[in-house]
Amino acid sequence: MSLTLAWVIFLSLIVAVGHAAGPAAPAIIPQPQHLELRAGAFTLTPATRVDADPGSRATARFLTSRLATATGYPLTPATKYFGSGSVPGAIFLTTRHANTNLGPEGYELTVAPDSVVIRAPTQAGLFYGVQTLLQLLPPAIFSPGPVTNVAWQIPAVQIQDWPRFVWRGFMLDVSRHFFTKAEVETLLDALALHKLNTFHWHLTDDHGWRIEIKACPKLTSVGAWRSGVGFGYASNSTTAYGPDGRYGGFYTQDDIREVVKYAAARHITIVPEIEMPGHSLAALTAYPEYSCTGGPFEPAMTGGVFNGIYDPAKEATFQFLTEVLAEVAGLFPGPYIHVGGDEVPKDTWKNSPDCQALMRREGLKNEEELQSWFVRRIEKIVNAHGHRLIGWSEILQGGLAQNATVMDWIGGAKEAAEAGHDVVMTPTSNCYFDFYQSSNRVAEPRAAAWGKPLTLARMYAYEPLPTNVPPALQSHILGTQGNLWTEQIPNFKHVEYMTFPRASALAEVTWSAPEARDFTDFSRRLRIQYQRFDELGINYRHGDASDAANIEPLAPTP
Ligand code: ACM
Repeated sequence: MSLTLAWVIFLSLIVAVGHAAGPAAPAIIPQPQHLELRAGAFTLTPATRVDADPGSRATARFLTSRLATATGYPLTPATKYFGSGSVPGAIFLTTRHANTNLGPEGYELTVAPDSVVIRAPTQAGLFYGVQTLLQLLPPAIFSPGPVTNVAWQIPAVQIQDWPRFVWRGFMLDVSRHFFTKAEVETLLDALALHKLNTFHWHLTDDHGWRIEIKACPKLTSVGAWRSGVGFGYASNSTTAYGPDGRYGGFYTQDDIREVVKYAAARHITIVPEIEMPGHSLAALTAYPEYSCTGGPFEPAMTGGVFNGIYDPAKEATFQFLTEVLAEVAGLFPGPYIHVGGDEVPKDTWKNSPDCQALMRREGLKNEEELQSWFVRRIEKIVNAHGHRLIGWSEILQGGLAQNATVMDWIGGAKEAAEAGHDVVMTPTSNCYFDFYQSSNRVAEPRAAAWGKPLTLARMYAYEPLPTNVPPALQSHILGTQGNLWTEQIPNFKHVEYMTFPRASALAEVTWSAPEARDFTDFSRRLRIQYQRFDELGINYRHGDASDAANIEPLAPTP
C-alpha cells in the first residue's frame, strides 16, 4: 500500500467517524456550489465569541440574535479590527482578504473544531454565509425561544458558494387579497432563509389599491376597499376588514419605508408593481376621470375582470400617473419599477373616439401600438426618477420601450434578448405558485384551476434559461421568480401553504449549479427544512419525492 493511499484511507476514516458520531449530513437549501465535509465539529457554548470587522457588525448581530434566542447564550458581536485568518474559539465575520472572484453575493465559510470564519466580498455574501451557518446547526436553532438539551454542533466544512442568477425572486399579489405589513415581513424572513433576493410586490390591480399616495388620497380611501372579501370566500376566511366592515387595507408610506428597510436588512430588493394601463379598476374607482368612459366603477369582487383601463388620450392621465410614480420612486430605492402592462383590454380604446384620434395624430396603426406609445411615455417618467422600467410579456407588443426589462410569463424572452433587453423568466408552466400543488385537487386547498399542477418536482426540474435564446444572449436572462396570485388565497396561512416548499425548490433552481440538482437528495434536505419551518411556525405542504408521480413530462421552455 502506498503512503498516499494509506493517508487517504486514514483521512476517510476520520471523516466517517466524525460523521457518524457528529451531526447529520448537512441539509443546506439551496445546495452550495462547493461543500467539503471535514472531520470534527465546532460546538457553540456560552463562552463562544462572535467577532466582526467594523463594517460587518450588523450582519454579525443578525447572527447573534438568532443564536442567542435559541441557545439562550448571551452572544453579542465584538469588533475585530485586523485578521486574515481565523480567531480561536470564535465565529469571525469579515470582508477583509475576501476572494472577490466569489462575486457580490458569494461567500466562503470555514468551520473547524476550534473556529468558524465567514469571509465574503460584501455584506450580502456574509449574510448568505450566516444563512448557511444556521442551516448547519440543528433545526432547533430556529426556535422562537431557548431550547435546552441540544448539542449546538456545527460540522466542520469548507464551503465556497455563490448564486447562479442575480434575480432570485418571489411575487406576492396583495390586491386580490390583502396581507398585512407583519405578514409581508414574515414572508421576507422566509425568503431570506432561502437566499432569495427579490420581492416583487404586486400592489395594485382591479381588486384593490394598496399603497398610500399622498397626492392622490382617494386611491386608498376609495380604491383600497370593496364591499366584501369576494371570490366566493366566506367572510370569516379573513380578518382584513376596515372599521366600517368593508374588505381591504393598504400600506401607509411609513409602512412601506419600514418594509423596505426590513427587506434591505435581509439583502432583499423590493420591486413595486403599479399596474397600467389595464388591471386598474381600483384606481379608476377613485379617479374615474382618468378612464375613457368616466365611470362610475367599483373595485372588482371576483377574478376575470380586466376592464380597468386608463385613457391615454387625456394629458391629465399622465399627470396623475407622474404623481403616483414620483412617490413610488421615492419610496423604493431598488432599481426597478414594474408597471404591469399585461392583459390590456383594447376594446375600450377601440370604441373611444379620443383614443382613435390620438392614434391618427401619432401615426399608430393599432391599439397594440397605442399601448407601446403609452408604455414609452411611462418609461420616460420612470427613468426621470432614476428607476428602470420592467413589465410583463405584453409590453413587447407594438414595440418595446427603449430600456425596458421584460418579465416573461407568456413568451417574449427570445425577442427581448435579441433586441438587447434583459428578461426575468416567470412562465405559467413552472412559476405560478397559485396553481395546485398536486393533480389530486380534492386533497388540496383551493388554487387556480386553469393551469397544470405545479408540483414540487416540476418546480425543482425547471430550467430558467430558455432553449431558444442563443448562448451569447443568455446573460440577458437575469433569473426567475415564483408568482403568487391571490384570487384563490384569502389569508396568510394559505399564502404560506402555497409558497412552501415550492419556494425551497425555486431557491435551488435560482442559486445552485444545474448539474448538481438531485431531487432525491433535495427531498432528504427538505425533511430537515420542514423541521426548520416547524420551529419558525411556517405553514407548508408536506411534499417530497413521491410528488414526482404527479409531474407531467416537461416540454422545453419555449
Ligand atoms: C399575469 O399573470 N397576468 C402576468
